[in-house]
Amino acid sequence: MEKRTILTTSSRGLLEDSFPYRLYQKAKRQGTWNPADIDFTQDQKDWQTLNAEQREDILQLISQFQAGEEAVTLDLLPLIMAIAKEGRLEEEMFLTTFLFEEAKHTEFFRRVLNAIGETGDLSHFHSDTYKQIFYEILPAAMERLVTDQSPEAIAEASVVYNMFVEGVLAETGYFSFYASLESAGIMPGLLEGIGNLKRDESRHIGYGTFLLQRLICEHPHLYEVVVAKMGELAPLAIRINQEGIDNKEISSFGGNPEEVMNFTMKQLSVRMEVLARAKGKKSKRFIESQIVN
Ligand SMILES: [Fe+2]
Ligand SMILES: [Fe+2]
Repeated sequence: MEKRTILTTSSRGLLEDSFPYRLYQKAKRQGTWNPADIDFTQDQKDWQTLNAEQREDILQLISQFQAGEEAVTLDLLPLIMAIAKEGRLEEEMFLTTFLFEEAKHTEFFRRVLNAIGETGDLSHFHSDTYKQIFYEILPAAMERLVTDQSPEAIAEASVVYNMFVEGVLAETGYFSFYASLESAGIMPGLLEGIGNLKRDESRHIGYGTFLLQRLICEHPHLYEVVVAKMGELAPLAIRINQEGIDNKEISSFGGNPEEVMNFTMKQLSVRMEVLARAKGKKSKRFIESQIVN
């Protein structure tokens, strides 16, 4: 049997100043919202006032989020297992909040759909590019960790999950929700949930950034692996946006679709800039100091 070392009864205790432990504390304070408490009465009324094109646009966004949240809920476990196996207790403590929050996000979008009466099959909103990401690339990168817990495999999984799906695609999705619903002053329940979700996701992305910076500090060659993986994924983000825009010059809510594309491009470069800061650095303190969330 493997020899176990108990940390919390040793003089080490818990690393209370460490980034993941602080993130765990933050999640307990801020991640307590309950999707069941959100009132969708006004959303139901607003939904009736939208025209067919506007409904179609919002439904496309919701159905992509709904499936995305379900996918990340189902796919996270192998990463938690890999981290736990390495005995990284504070990281695993944070990850318990991470998985709980993804479950709440899945619940939230289903509640929205139920509230506005859209209970039919929405899978036609998942384009080929969307399917490639959420039906193939994401589950494959995460499932790989069941049998391969190498630093390379963990880094690639985190790039796909935290940097790309959460840090680029989901962030772009929030931008689109705000650009349409907030400027129109409608669907307050949906927007309230999106605000909560966005805060949760900033912690998830913060952890992913920490994890990748830690891995790059420990294994400098992983920076190239991370850059290559992001380079592979970037065209998919552009394509999925183009599919969403569908050659429109103006969105159904009056906004400029080009702004969404610009936002995606900015997210892609911001993620890489933050990770590049870890290159050539060894200090643990560097990781602690660089995280912004
Ligand atoms: Fe989520
Ligand atoms: Fe997340």
